[in-house]
Amino acid sequence: MLSATLLRHSRVLFAVAATTLLSGLQPALAGVDDVTVYKDPNCGCCGKWAEHLRLHGFQVKEIPTAQMDRVKREARVPAALASCHTAKVGGYVVEGHVPATDVKRLLAVKPQIAGISAPGMPQGSPGMEGPFTPDRYEVVSFDGHGNTTTFARH
Ligand code: CU
Ligand code: CU
Repeated sequence: MLSATLLRHSRVLFAVAATTLLSGLQPALAGVDDVTVYKDPNCGCCGKWAEHLRLHGFQVKEIPTAQMDRVKREARVPAALASCHTAKVGGYVVEGHVPATDVKRLLAVKPQIAGISAPGMPQGSPGMEGPFTPDRYEVVSFDGHGNTTTFARH
């Protein structure tokens, strides 16, 4: 009788401990793929890109701001690589309509760069879909010292 009560009690304690452990881990796990997108409040394609990332499993927070020039300067996005929105994920800068697959590769490979960009607004890139013929475009990496390399071709 006593041992049965103890057993039941320890099961409850174990369940509580396991739940506490899991809820403690969850924010850290979710944090890996958290994306913060800075965008002009009037930008429509920025919101579509955010949606594209959500469809690929990212947690995305959109921050509308009229100070996009300043955001890009502080993120050290080279002027030649600028696009509409500027995002931050996993310590990297992601500029413009970069496909989610490239963002995932960036986070998996963790290269010694500051970020990647899809310069301009390539037609047919994620968030820039339409009836027109898609552009060929490159995703370019930058290191914050003026060096750039091709990261992906689409
Ligand atoms: Cu755009
Ligand atoms: Cu945008």
